[in-house]
Amino acid sequence: MHKYKIYVIIKILINKGAAKIFMKIITVSDYNAMAVESAKIIAAYIKNNPGKLMCFAAGDTPLGTFAELIKMQDRGEVDLSSVYYAQLDEWVGLGPNDKGSCLQVMNEAFFGPANISKDKINIFDGLAEDQEAQCRKAEDWIKKQGGIGFALLGVGMNGHIGFNEPGAPDTEGCFIVELDDTTKKVSAKYFGKSLPVQTGITIGRKTLLDSGEILLQISGKSKAPAAEKTLKGEIGADFPASFIRNHKNAIIMLDEDAAGLI
Ligand code: F6R
Repeated sequence: MHKYKIYVIIKILINKGAAKIFMKIITVSDYNAMAVESAKIIAAYIKNNPGKLMCFAAGDTPLGTFAELIKMQDRGEVDLSSVYYAQLDEWVGLGPNDKGSCLQVMNEAFFGPANISKDKINIFDGLAEDQEAQCRKAEDWIKKQGGIGFALLGVGMNGHIGFNEPGAPDTEGCFIVELDDTTKKVSAKYFGKSLPVQTGITIGRKTLLDSGEILLQISGKSKAPAAEKTLKGEIGADFPASFIRNHKNAIIMLDEDAAGLI
């Protein structure tokens, strides 16, 4: 049993329309506890919402959560095939066989071991010649599934969610984005070498923030400044993750290292 606590529950009354916003901030002891608690939240969502569309970030942060979800499925506690999936983003120019591409990571860490059939997933092919067509295909898929039910997101050092980079417009649907310098620099950690990535394809911020539920995970000391800006900085396009504070049904989960500056 992992130790975790609900750090604080912030209830904000928005003046315009007096909509009630509940943002839950959960701190957990460490990365493993984050994986276990996140998997429980996601599994509960899937059990209560079969047939809904899930959108999971790739990257390092959710890998433990994927492993826990697969263990839960193996124990018969959740059926990960009872929902649909939309890939969140991809490096343009990289395909499923390129180490560190988002699809390669998702296939290896989640779709493969979870045994999700291809017809339940919309993927981005970063090698496709017509990336705009990839965007329209993803938009059609999201629409067909009634929008994103649950989004599992991570935050970049620069505040990006998906590849919604700092300063990016409030985009509905999907778009091709010029990658931020920080994103390009950090990308080498996924590829095991430096690659000249310039553009990405991503689900836009508006569509992500329209998700029924959002779980944003922030882990590790290196993410403490990003966690501080996400939770305490000005809400705006300069730090896209800050918008999650305006979501009506979001959880921001931090481990103690990431919560160091809060
Ligand atoms: C990846 C993605 C990115 C990552 C973010 C954090 O599909 O959408 O926004 O979630 O860059 O990455 P990690 O978890 O590797 O620190």
